[in-house]
Amino acid sequence: MSNDEFPTDQPAVVTCGLPYANGDLHVGHLRTYVDGDALSRSLRRIGQQTAFVSGSDMHGTPVAVNAAEEGVEPREFALDFHETYAETFPQFNIEFDNYGHTDDETNVELTQEFVRSWVENDHVHEKEIEVAWDTEEDQPLPDRYVEGTCPYCGEQARGDECDEGCQRHLEPGEIEDPVSTLTGNPAEYRTREHKFLRLADFQEYLQGFLDRLEGTDNAQNQPREWIEGELQDLCITRDMDWGVDYPEDVDGGEDLVLYVWVDAPIEYVASTKQYSERVGDDEYDWEQVWKVDGEEHHGTEWDDDWTDDNGEIIHVIGRDIIQHHAVFWPVMLRGAGYNEPRSILATGFVGIDGKALSTSRNRAVWADEYLDAGFHPDLFRYYIATGAQIDTDVDFSWDRFQERVNGELVGNVGNFIYRSLLFAERNYDGTPDAAVSDDVRDRIESAIEDFETAVREYDVRELAEIAIELSNYGNEYIQRNEPWNLVDDDPDRAEQVIRDCVQLTKAVAVLMQPVLPGKAERLWGQLGEQGSVADVTLDSALEAPPAEFGEPAELFEQVEDDHIEALNEELQERVESEASTEASNGGGEAAGDDGDDDAETADLQPLVEDRISFEDFEGVDMRVGEIRSAEPVEGADKLLRLEVDIGHEVRQVVAGLRQLHDAEALPGTRVILLANMEKAELFGIESNGMVLAAGDEADLLTTHEDAPLGTRIK
Ligand code: MSP
Ligand code: ZN
Repeated sequence: MSNDEFPTDQPAVVTCGLPYANGDLHVGHLRTYVDGDALSRSLRRIGQQTAFVSGSDMHGTPVAVNAAEEGVEPREFALDFHETYAETFPQFNIEFDNYGHTDDETNVELTQEFVRSWVENDHVHEKEIEVAWDTEEDQPLPDRYVEGTCPYCGEQARGDECDEGCQRHLEPGEIEDPVSTLTGNPAEYRTREHKFLRLADFQEYLQGFLDRLEGTDNAQNQPREWIEGELQDLCITRDMDWGVDYPEDVDGGEDLVLYVWVDAPIEYVASTKQYSERVGDDEYDWEQVWKVDGEEHHGTEWDDDWTDDNGEIIHVIGRDIIQHHAVFWPVMLRGAGYNEPRSILATGFVGIDGKALSTSRNRAVWADEYLDAGFHPDLFRYYIATGAQIDTDVDFSWDRFQERVNGELVGNVGNFIYRSLLFAERNYDGTPDAAVSDDVRDRIESAIEDFETAVREYDVRELAEIAIELSNYGNEYIQRNEPWNLVDDDPDRAEQVIRDCVQLTKAVAVLMQPVLPGKAERLWGQLGEQGSVADVTLDSALEAPPAEFGEPAELFEQVEDDHIEALNEELQERVESEASTEASNGGGEAAGDDGDDDAETADLQPLVEDRISFEDFEGVDMRVGEIRSAEPVEGADKLLRLEVDIGHEVRQVVAGLRQLHDAEALPGTRVILLANMEKAELFGIESNGMVLAAGDEADLLTTHEDAPLGTRIK
């Protein structure tokens, strides 16, 4: 990789975390792919040669367990989903240059080559470990076949990941109080031989790697804690049938398959290779991107100069798989003589209606559901890309979707474009003759610069908003100049104003293309332009559109109330029916902790007899707030440290919610904060306010409409 600014002289590859081929895609998954797609299109937009690749993750217990439930062979089961994904992505305008899968020949061969290199370079060793075992079924219980308690944070964890707690990877044997998911029996531990990659060999390398790494802060900072102290070996084999076989020509390892997290990231390389093979090495050389030249440059050392001619590797993933990408993966690459990632972008999660997305509770909005509702894919792309900073969680709700589409896309962008183009067509048959004014030219130039900066900073939200801000400017401009009043009195001036608006429209088309590719293409056509807006450079935002174009049509359609009501009802019914099925199955998990079951009559406390004056009440300063972040307070099993945005400022509050609410689900939740509560210090942390909640279950108080943050409660 070069250390140069984008666009560099080297080819880049943008990859997206591979979806497990084990179920339907939902809006949570789509965040990875929308952001990856928008970023790769933006890199191209600024002149960076870029390949955009991914593939389906076919192996491992996530697939095997679900296939077994359906009574289908894992290969057949996974291929089915793979094909569905390959068809679904383009429907969201997510266009990979190559979309492979981990069970294809390219990946299987490449994976085995990686393992051979590690063995040759002496980074692999064998040892006996205790693995969980189901005595009734008499079989080992790798990964998701076992559940228990996370040894690091005490949360419920499954197999190889603490998905509801600290997000750490768990090695075989680490989970405490293991229970078999096959029979529900407590698991036993038995001794087995497995292969391990010695991560400790790369400790120093990893420290340097994290210092060099670009992308989101979470991908750089979280792993620092994980690589402190001696690094644990990574078990790279499993007792399973489904997976890539441990290479036969390497000693031992018979009957073992490779751990799914070995062959999965290697698909990034395999998928790039397939792309190269399709377009030819001259057009795109996968080895230049991925492989470091010269045997002498392999090993645990690193020197920036070795990779001057290599390409730029950019990974886009969700925040749950940072450890795999920022710790294991660089070691896997380095250990086999490969280039390192230049950047990792770990996106925040997508929640639904203020709560965590949960497929088991059916609280999810599915990719198909969105498409079946008939909304244009770009609307969703826009919502997701601009909903929050890339590394912050985004809440998806149909109400907010409607509000944002109608307000920002229909009301702002659509309105400006339609007014400008209609006026231009009616009065001048297209682009008026006048030259663009200096002010407008400057404004477009600065938008182009901002766009380039945003791409270099991997700021997907910012790069998506630039076109919107430009159109905002356009709206104010047209409003201020009122060309409709000038046509008769000052026709030259009217012509000038409309000329500016048409240019702004063209610039909006060019700049919105990475996030709204379908809509940008349509607008390009409305401007009478030839070819595709995807193929033009940023500078074309400053070139005049054709002198003639036809009458425009509305670019964005209004999202109607009844449509949203129906979608809301559908979602609610689904969640409720899942909750009642679980409850009647004796699943204690569904009801209660979500607070979405029917209100029960609590043991009522007597009402307070003493009345307070209105003045006393006025002394209570309560505000509408929104939780920005929530994290456990170390050493206190009931407390969470919250950051609550109350408009004026963000308050740090310590609240006893840890056992009653899922910390992950809290960001984005609107709450009421008692802002003038005495400050307190709990476990060394200052608490500056109090979040209001009802009853023993801490049912959080909120508002029911959209009162802005900071609004006082009266
Ligand atoms: N197969 C692994 C990734 C292997 S990469 C070498 C995996 N698969 S997944 O299907 O669970 O997730 C696919 C992508 O979607 C990942 O980038 C993951 O982080 C992301 N997300 C899955 N659920 C998500 C949300 N609810 N919100 C945001 N992103 C989420 O992990
Ligand atoms: Zn944990």
